[in-house]
Amino acid sequence: MNAVSTRRNPPPRDILDPIEIASRDEIAALQLKRLQWSLKHAYDNVGHFRAKCQAKGVHPDDVRELKDLARFPFTTKDDLRQTYPFGMFAVPQDQVVRVHASSGTTGKPTVVGYTANDISMWADVMARSIRASGGRRGDKCHISYGYGLFTGGLGAHYGAERLGCMVIPMSGGQTEKQVQLIQDFSPRIIMVTPSYMLAIADEMDRQGIDTKTCPIEIGIFGAEPWTGAMREEIEARMGIDAVDIYGLSEVIGPGVACECIETKDGLHIWEDHFYPEIIDPQTGEVLPDGEMGELVFTSLSKEALPIIRYRTRDLTRLVPGTARSFRRIEKITGRSDDMMIIRGVNVFPTQIEELILKDYRLAPHYQLEISRDNHLDSLAVNVEMRSDQPYDDDAAKAAAKDLVHHIKSYIGISTKVNVVAPDSIERSMGKAKRIIDKRPKS
Ligand code: DLL
Repeated sequence: MNAVSTRRNPPPRDILDPIEIASRDEIAALQLKRLQWSLKHAYDNVGHFRAKCQAKGVHPDDVRELKDLARFPFTTKDDLRQTYPFGMFAVPQDQVVRVHASSGTTGKPTVVGYTANDISMWADVMARSIRASGGRRGDKCHISYGYGLFTGGLGAHYGAERLGCMVIPMSGGQTEKQVQLIQDFSPRIIMVTPSYMLAIADEMDRQGIDTKTCPIEIGIFGAEPWTGAMREEIEARMGIDAVDIYGLSEVIGPGVACECIETKDGLHIWEDHFYPEIIDPQTGEVLPDGEMGELVFTSLSKEALPIIRYRTRDLTRLVPGTARSFRRIEKITGRSDDMMIIRGVNVFPTQIEELILKDYRLAPHYQLEISRDNHLDSLAVNVEMRSDQPYDDDAAKAAAKDLVHHIKSYIGISTKVNVVAPDSIERSMGKAKRIIDKRPKS
């Protein structure tokens, strides 16, 4: 049996946490107990949350079933901004052992805090995520998520250590050095944004290294939307299994949900710590499992920053568990903030990505520019030609013409496509910037 099929074998049941394979009734009972605790903890200790509950006439004692949660107010990024920096913390500051912050596009960052128990729970769910991705004690794990206020680097780091891996805390950037350390240290696992993985693979090409012979077997990719087509691209190019991991700072960081390598069919939510709901983004009404909408999370065990019904803005649907008992989310289509409305048609960058990757001439390096002429929004797609393709004016025009046609027929919008030379679109060292908004600020 070759290495690929072995690493895709389901893990022995005895290395899983018992709750991962518990019955749905057991999971629901644990969730209810923890939910009642979490709501009371937030209500008793966070004035801002208590005031919002009182305004809505709800109290944690009213919660008898999981569905009673729907009566509580949502939390948004704006609540965290209003209480900046520490106003949503539910414990005295001398119990907070770490903060992280997410930058956001404008204004103040949102600050999140952790007690020692929170850090330990986070390490546990991250270790569980790495294990679900096929990682095991003793593996070498190269971490290229940024270390610092961003949760990616340190979140992955603590989880890999908890699992018993040898951690290579490389952080983002210094792409040549990333390649050197991968060659010299032979990690089995890499944890990085999918877009930066491509930049590292390009650097390997540049150095004449055969990406298929690279020692990495598993990539744990997240922090930004990426399509199934991108997964195929990375897997074929690197000869690895590419697994999707999801998370957000306000809920804990990476490790809220993760795919299992043996199924790669969506991300199992670690529902013993994070309770998911899907809502209609317009009305806020809770939607049944299976329906597409906005993902909302309530933390069930966090001490420093209990978060109740946090609106993620991420769009997906909830589906039943497969490789584990926990429910899954489908790959995130995009954030509602990233949805572009072009002449009345809703478009996400991932839809364009899928079409780009269908064309053998085009590389998965792209940016979308929205501008406004005569009150109408228009979209330009800048995408690179693959480095193994001949690049000249005619070739670029021919590929552009085809992509314009595909976008028109599959998505229904007219675009201007510029196929540019390899290496001309700026590489990200973390989350890729897909949209450049050139519309006048109102
Ligand atoms: O990006 C945490 C993280 C780090 C997740 C490393 C996975 C790996 P934030 O910076 O707070 O936290 O950004 C959270 O990133 O609401 C999604 O919009 C997006 N996102 C994260 N993971 C995925 C994913 C980290 N797998 C925001 N697919 C989230 C799609 C993702 N989008």
